[in-house]
This record gives sequence, C-alpha cells and structure tokens, in this order.
Amino acid sequence: MGIGYSGNTASEYPHFMLKEIMEQPRVLEETLARSITPDKKVELGTGLKNEELAGYRRLLIIACGTAYHAGLVGKHFIEKAAHIPVEVELASEFRYGQPLIEQKTLTVAISQSGETADTLAALRLAQAKGSRTVAITNAVDSTITREAHGVIYTLAGPEVSVASTKAYLAQLVTLYLFGLQLARARETLNEREISRYVDALEALPGQVGSLLQRARELKEPAAVIARGSHAYFLGRALDYAVALEGSLKLKETSYIHGEAYAAGEFRHGPIALIEEGIPVIALATQPSLAEKTSAVMEEVKSRGAWIMGISPGGNNSISSLCNWFLDLPETEPEFAPILAVIPLQLLAYYTACARGTAVDTPRHLVKSVQDK
Ligand code: F6R
Repeated sequence: MGIGYSGNTASEYPHFMLKEIMEQPRVLEETLARSITPDKKVELGTGLKNEELAGYRRLLIIACGTAYHAGLVGKHFIEKAAHIPVEVELASEFRYGQPLIEQKTLTVAISQSGETADTLAALRLAQAKGSRTVAITNAVDSTITREAHGVIYTLAGPEVSVASTKAYLAQLVTLYLFGLQLARARETLNEREISRYVDALEALPGQVGSLLQRARELKEPAAVIARGSHAYFLGRALDYAVALEGSLKLKETSYIHGEAYAAGEFRHGPIALIEEGIPVIALATQPSLAEKTSAVMEEVKSRGAWIMGISPGGNNSISSLCNWFLDLPETEPEFAPILAVIPLQLLAYYTACARGTAVDTPRHLVKSVQDK
C-alpha cells in the first residue's frame, strides 16, 4: 500500500481519491495508537479535563457535508455510550437560526479543512451564546484551531482529493474515541465495556485492510450504476447516516443522482420512483434492524429494483434479495459505519472512473467552501 506523496501525482495510484481510500488502515492505526494507552484507556487529548467533560448536559455537533455525516454517526454512538443528548446541525443552517443553547452545552465543530465559512460562523454563534467549543479538524493552524476552546486533530494527513474519504474515516474514529472518553468521565460504561469497545476498535485497521484487498470487486456494481442516472441508498439508523455519505460520494464524483433515504421512509413516497432496473444500495449492518430493512428490500425488488446489499457475516435474509452482495467483517454494530463506508467510497470511485469524470477535482467543487 503506497502512502507517500510524490510531487503532485498520486504515485502508484491513478487518482488521489483511490490513494486516500487505501491509506485508511494507516489513518485508523495512527489514531488508535495516539489515543489508547497501553492499559486500554482512551486519552484523546481534548484539552478538556474529565471533570469538565462529566459536567456537560448536552452536546451540539455542527458541520457541513461529509463532516456532518460523520457527526450523525457520532450522535448515535455518543448517546448510547455516554447517555448524553446530542444534536447534530448543519452549520450552514445553524448559523442563520436563533439557536437556544443551554448552559452546560459543549459544541463540537467538525471540519477537515478548519476553514469552512459556514462551520466557522456556526462556531462563533455557539460561542456568542455561551457554549464551550471543541474543534475536530485535520488542519494544523487552521482558523478553527485558533477560535475553538479545545482542538482534537484527526490524523488523516493531507487530503488532496476534493471528495473526502480518509478524513471522514478519521472523524468517525475520533468521535467513537470521544464517546468512550465521555462515557468514562460520566461513568456510563464500566472498564470491561470500554475495553470490549477498544478491542473492537483495534481490530478495525485489519478489517478495513481486508476490505480494501477486495477493492476491485466493486467495479462490477459500479459498471451497473454508471449506466444509469439515479441510484437510491437505503438504511436505518447508523446505516442511514452511512447511506447519506455514500450518496454524496456518488453524486460529487460521478455526477449521478444518488439519494439516501431512511429505509422506513422509503414507503412514504419515494418508492414511487422505483422502476425496472433502478439501482438500490441497501445497507443492513445492524442485526436488530436487518429484518425490517429486508422487508423494504423485498418491496423494492418486487418492483424491479437492482439491489446491491452490504451486510456483515453473509446474512442470508439480506444476501438472497441482492443482485450483488458484499459481506462485511463482524464488528460491534456501532462501529459498522467504518466498514460499510469503504465499499461505498470504492463504488463512487469506480463509477466515476467508468464515467470518465475528473475524479479528484469534480466540477463546481472546491476543497474548502467560503462565503460568497
Ligand atoms: C465531500 C466533502 C464536503 C466537505 C464539506 C465540509 O466529499 O468533502 O462535503 O465535507 O465541504 O468541509 P470541511 O470538513 O473542510 O469543513
């Protein structure tokens, strides 16, 4: 796996996007090595003391685009692990609202670049309303690092491809670690539970690596999707958060209309869009929800959809409904997004290649969005 940069090219990879997708096991490894002590304690270096962390009543996550999608995954885990309500807001909306921010709210702003105008404006608004703030960012010395009260750096390294991949994964693992640190500070998980989660986190770099070895398999569904103009991504709960990210990756790199729906919502209107051969990408990584998701898959299949399914451990009730199926390695269900997003990144990448788009520099997009 090549991880060094050579000039401005993607070295042995045809595109930076693929190179950055392939770097993800290293990103996970380095993040975990920095944040987990030899006795399996999580020390993320938030700049906030555990007593302070224990005192917050509510978390507010603000971010845009892919970083917002990471925040949605973070909400699920942090609420479960640390028993604290978490709201996730689009910074581009939040900044123009009149938010009610209670005291004892910690605002977490997520931004790969640390320069996104909407996220900075939202951070300033939260601070003006009296909130303490922490930035999760990939960019040392960026504006957000100077303005937030605390900073947690993601260790993705420079991300060149406009479509974010490794920075998203770094944000996810950082949010998981943050959730575990909060859970310890708030005493909502015991040491045994934390160490079970830590073991699962430590298995992820190898599991992501094993998925990446199968990268080329994704060329097959990509060829199907590249022939059409639409694709729907379905999932419930955490799978919905990952579906949103998968559909954004597809849109921005291949210019195909990808749309994510919470699987249960699909019946409330969008199912009318299904016609013969329409690609549907179904995520079913949560054992407790698999049956419910398979019911929606059956409905779209009976209306002619072409289904690509992603689920752990060769789940027969899911795989039997699919035209193309990828089985994920087993992990704690809460961490499945780390694995499930890999095939979606590769799907977007290979679809873009099949369409001949400018994979690393999609039209109309910039790496960090400024105010007009
Ligand atoms: C999509 C993508 C964008 C960014 C968004 C926020 O692949 O990269 O959606 O996630 O513009 O950027 P940052 O994280 O730099 O604030």
